[in-house]
Amino acid sequence: MAIALIPGSFDPVTNGHLDIIERTAAHFDQVVAAVIRNPQKSKALFTLQERQEMLAEVTASLGNVRIDSFKGLLVDFAREHSVSAIVKGLRAVSDFDYELQMAQMNYKLARIDTLFMPTSPQHSFLSSSLVREVARFGGDVSSMVPAAVALRLKERFNRDE
Ligand code: PNS
Repeated sequence: MAIALIPGSFDPVTNGHLDIIERTAAHFDQVVAAVIRNPQKSKALFTLQERQEMLAEVTASLGNVRIDSFKGLLVDFAREHSVSAIVKGLRAVSDFDYELQMAQMNYKLARIDTLFMPTSPQHSFLSSSLVREVARFGGDVSSMVPAAVALRLKERFNRDE
């Protein structure tokens, strides 16, 4: 069974993530979207449970996708779950340097391949951090994230202000 691992912070999941998950699901028997428990970048807007719930909700129609979480090294999770390959979306050349470095490190550590999938052009400007920022200041993100996520963002920022 060929299992693809799509890791990320998913804070929150965007239409760009969903595009990569859907297209990966068409090539593999199973896809595991794994949410990192403690994103290093910044304080997460959503809790691990919320990030997982949103992912589960927006991938519910995809029968071969499941949601999990991990901490520590990605390759340890990949080994424990008999993953065939890690799949990463590439939005632009600017993503490539760091992604290549991580792919080579992960291969060195565990002989696990990383496959890069080009993001669909309509999503190439999207990132969770920009979506959070736009939503925080009341901008319309409804075409950038699934409806369930747009609703959660609205609730989160209405509640906080
Ligand atoms: O959505 P993100 O924040 O870009 O995802 C980054 C993520 C979680 C894929 C990356 O930080 C990661 O793999 N972290 C796990 C720790 C690890 O294995 N580090 C070594 C990578 S070479």
